[in-house]
Amino acid sequence: MEKAILKVIDLSVKFPTKGNDVEALKNISFSVKTGEALGILGESGSGKSVSALSIMNLVPSPGRIINGSILYSGINLVSLSEADMRRLRGSEISMVFQDPLTAFNPVYTVGKQLLHVIQTHKHKSKKIAYNRVTIVIFFIFKFNYLFKFRIFFKNSF
Ligand SMILES: Nc1ncnc2c1ncn2[C@@H]1O[C@H](COP(=O)(O)OP(=O)(O)OP(=O)(O)O)[C@@H](O)[C@H]1O
Ligand SMILES: [Mg+2]
Repeated sequence: MEKAILKVIDLSVKFPTKGNDVEALKNISFSVKTGEALGILGESGSGKSVSALSIMNLVPSPGRIINGSILYSGINLVSLSEADMRRLRGSEISMVFQDPLTAFNPVYTVGKQLLHVIQTHKHKSKKIAYNRVTIVIFFIFKFNYLFKFRIFFKNSF
């Protein structure tokens, strides 16, 4: 049987407030095997984003993980140092945020921002990173073009 690459066990996250603390997650557990895709469904406020943010170790302060473990390839991410977590983030574990458009900074070109991500997380030279960005952008535009082309001819057949 395929081994689980990610195991979330009894995870609880709390946001302290002036009134009652918000228990965003209460003892949740799930696991994902290598090559498996897991979909999490739930009503608004049920904890989907907080679950993903916990795995990324990015629960916004004053929120914090108060219980449980997140095992990634056997490493407990909950007790990992920020420096070690940074090495995994973006290279092995990534998150597409709920509002991905705001993840880009409008002051810089998309190319420059992609370059920064590859250089930071893959530790590649500027030249190698630049070549990768060029390939990525080429494929995005190529597929975008093909997609438009298909729509253009959609009603012709
Ligand atoms: N920064 C925060 N401060 C206080 N409470 C928060 C914060 N972020 C999330 N919560 C609370 O944690 C709970 C889970 O929120 P979460 O954003 O994970 O829900 P969600 O399932 O992603 O919802 P949606 O479908 O609307 O995206 C909610 O009760 C929410 O109010
Ligand atoms: Mg959400």
